[in-house]
Amino acid sequence: MDDGLRKPAVEAAPHRAGAPGELVLSVVAPTFNESKNILALVESLEACLAGISWEVIFVDDNSPDGTAAVVREIARTRPHVRGLQRFGRRGLSSAVIEGICSSSAPYVAVIDADMQHDETLLARMLDTIQAENLDLVVGSRYVSGGGGSRGLSAVRGAMSRFATRLSGLLMQFDLADPMSGFFMVRREAFLAAAPHLSGAGYKILLDFVVSAPAPLKHKELPYEFRPRLHGESKLDAMVLFEYLVMMLEKTIGRYIPVRFLLFCLVGGTGVLVHLAALFPIREAVAFPVAQGIAALVSMTSNFLLNNVLTYRDVRLRGRRLVTGLLSFYAVCSIGFLANVSFAEMLYERGHPWWIAGAAGVLIGCVWNFGASAIFTWKRA
Ligand code: GDD
Ligand code: MN
Repeated sequence: MDDGLRKPAVEAAPHRAGAPGELVLSVVAPTFNESKNILALVESLEACLAGISWEVIFVDDNSPDGTAAVVREIARTRPHVRGLQRFGRRGLSSAVIEGICSSSAPYVAVIDADMQHDETLLARMLDTIQAENLDLVVGSRYVSGGGGSRGLSAVRGAMSRFATRLSGLLMQFDLADPMSGFFMVRREAFLAAAPHLSGAGYKILLDFVVSAPAPLKHKELPYEFRPRLHGESKLDAMVLFEYLVMMLEKTIGRYIPVRFLLFCLVGGTGVLVHLAALFPIREAVAFPVAQGIAALVSMTSNFLLNNVLTYRDVRLRGRRLVTGLLSFYAVCSIGFLANVSFAEMLYERGHPWWIAGAAGVLIGCVWNFGASAIFTWKRA
């Protein structure tokens, strides 16, 4: 049937050089405090991608060291350099996703901006993805010829291997280095997965691989992970937590939002904090006063934990930390009233005490979660 659109008999084979003026490759580099590394990367890309029509897109989360301004300055005289500056957000994966989505090239590579990845591999990656008609080529530290985790500290090396093994449970095919931050994709294959991505954390490649609607035609090419040029790694203790969040999103996240789950877990710790605060003061002051103080302590600890864990990507700081805390108190007080009145209503209608009690808690949690998302962390 003719759908009215005339398709070329043969899909135009992408050519490494592209038609004159036609973009072939976008290189996406997420940045956070990388101002000193930008020029080195741009110049190195210029050297090793000569003859290819390419661009680089830096996606910066408004780094305090002024990375975005440095990118703009460099881009002023170089049309193949672009910058995307995001405000009030942090996240390697989500930065990469937005960078890729802003590209119009048929192939997109992702590379760290600190020179740890080997940009001289990009041309071979492009040749391979085109010649073998692949969806994905991964720069791998773990296939033969790769440098292993030499560029990582001992602890990071062990964490990386543990996470790699864990990921094997989720993936439909084997990748020696699913934690790699260095890879090239066919843009269309990435866009097909984009609506299903978790976007949490740092492991965008793994996220992509497990979110792709169809198995990806892929290959791994070895490279050696180098030491950083300037600055320091941003991946700290949070890296494993972020990773677990992503794994949760890919498994039970289909049934229950992981943010809500984290919020409830934090709420659970709040009960323990409440009791721990109540214990030493229970006889020192009148009981309702002691209970009130304990409630304030546990609300404060819930707020701080949620700010660090549940809302780590939009964490409140400085003055907004104080106003956020006040709004959290207000939200929780209303949640408490909702909890008590709903439980009372059920109890009066003859439901057993534990159903009434649990339903009250659930209503309170849902209210606290929804209202704090809007009023405290300003997310709908
Ligand atoms: N936009 C943005 N937002 N960029 C970020 C953020 C963020 O929140 N956090 C880190 N980046 C940027 C850094 O500026 C750097 O260019 C790149 O992401 C990697 O961050 P590093 O802090 O240098 O990470 P690493 O060297 O410890 O680990 C990297 O290499 C591993 C091995 O390939 C990452 O790419 C890991 O994902 C990867 O497993
Ligand atoms: Mn790095």
